[in-house]
Amino acid sequence: MSNSIYNQLINKEAKLAVIGLGYVGLPIALEFARKISVVGFDINQERVDMMKNNIDPSNELESSDFDNTEIVFTANQEDLADVNFYVVAVPTPIDDANLPNLRPLLGASATVGKVLKKGDYVVFESTVYPGCTEEDCIPVLETESGLKYKEDFMVGYSPERINPGDKVHTLQNVVKVVSGSDDHSLEEIAKTYELVVEAGVHRAPTIKVAEAAKIIENTQRDVNIALINELSIIFDKLKINTYDVLEAAGTKWNFLNFSPGLVGGHCIGVDPYYLTHKAKQAGYHTKIINSGRYVNDSMGFYIGKQTVKKILARGKHIQDAKVLVLGATFKEDVTDIRNSKVIDIISELKSFQVHVDLADPHASSKEMENEYGVGLIPEPTNDYDAVIVAVNHKEYKDLTETDLRAMMKDDLGVLVDVKGMYKGKIKNLEYWSL
Ligand SMILES: NC(=O)c1ccc[n+]([C@@H]2O[C@H](COP(=O)([O-])OP(=O)(O)OC[C@H]3O[C@@H](n4cnc5c(N)ncnc54)[C@H](O)[C@@H]3O)[C@@H](O)[C@H]2O)c1
Repeated sequence: MSNSIYNQLINKEAKLAVIGLGYVGLPIALEFARKISVVGFDINQERVDMMKNNIDPSNELESSDFDNTEIVFTANQEDLADVNFYVVAVPTPIDDANLPNLRPLLGASATVGKVLKKGDYVVFESTVYPGCTEEDCIPVLETESGLKYKEDFMVGYSPERINPGDKVHTLQNVVKVVSGSDDHSLEEIAKTYELVVEAGVHRAPTIKVAEAAKIIENTQRDVNIALINELSIIFDKLKINTYDVLEAAGTKWNFLNFSPGLVGGHCIGVDPYYLTHKAKQAGYHTKIINSGRYVNDSMGFYIGKQTVKKILARGKHIQDAKVLVLGATFKEDVTDIRNSKVIDIISELKSFQVHVDLADPHASSKEMENEYGVGLIPEPTNDYDAVIVAVNHKEYKDLTETDLRAMMKDDLGVLVDVKGMYKGKIKNLEYWSL
């Protein structure tokens, strides 16, 4: 065998495994499986059984995406024994105190450590703070395997940039950052990823640089959205439409294109906490990043409160009010409800004893019930005092004022258009947007 893992992989003398087959892991596993032999490993047997039947449990891929692939899906650790290149793509959530929860990542590192052999490669893809791979994951690999990093096995880090629901920016057509333990391993890892990323790879000089690059991509987005959210609060007080202002300012070449809204999900609203945690350990207390998080995390409550004020301004008793919220997922056109901030709008309304109905064409009522204790109604009624369009799902874009009015109890109905989808189209309903 040559000492090139890349050559072994393309000659099918070695196998690649992806550990954790979620939004990130499954697409990359299937892409690799068009070129080389792949083992798809996940601890969740139910999900593995679905994938064996060409079903993506995350609802992002079609069953045809499983065609022409050489992949074995398994929840059995023994199936990893003859693998030489491991890609780890397990979740990196935060706990109730907004601190990194490394349990899945360290668990996956232990799984790999148990089967690690001399000459093997491990590439982490999960989003982490700079230093996590070398300080937290590699010691677990060493302890479990009894092998030495750099002498016996190599490690890399390659962050993922896929964007659920986005069919334009895909794994194949977005440049991927890669990094490795040294020049040789970097080259091997880069060539391996070049097999599947048509847009090519960016070779980062160190693992820490690659980790930091990913975490700032999402932190920058979070802070920028927070600024626009804050501006929208100011403009509301000044009675200026935020979207009108953004459209005008956007005509300047270097004005950045961000819009106000809820920041939920498991990336943008979570990743900055990994960086603030690491910064604190290093003796620096972050300010701008924390402020951004605070503003974005407050938006659901703010929207709820604004809705209450609008209903009161129509002369109604708030305790008798009935509100319909359209959209439950964390963003448009996906089924993912994790860390959805729509629930904050609902909590705020309920704290005023408002009756709230929630509908969503993409979300699962059972999952909403399990996660938040709020199920979905099958069909909206026609007696609402306010309708909040919280998520800009494609199903809502073409709703007319007549459609929206038909859901309202009377002519005093309030339309809360969180994403400004109906700007300029509403003439008679009381209209409010961020
Ligand atoms: N979803 C995105 O859009 C996105 C984009 C870029 C980066 N990321 C990052 O990629 C990582 C993975 O995110 P995701 O959205 O794919 O997560 P996910 O929740 O969709 O999937 C994770 C999968 O890992 C499995 N898993 C959990 N612990 C495991 C373990 N110890 N061993 C094996 N499998 C295990 C779960 O069963 C699940 O199938 C995270 O760090 C995330 O921040 C996600």
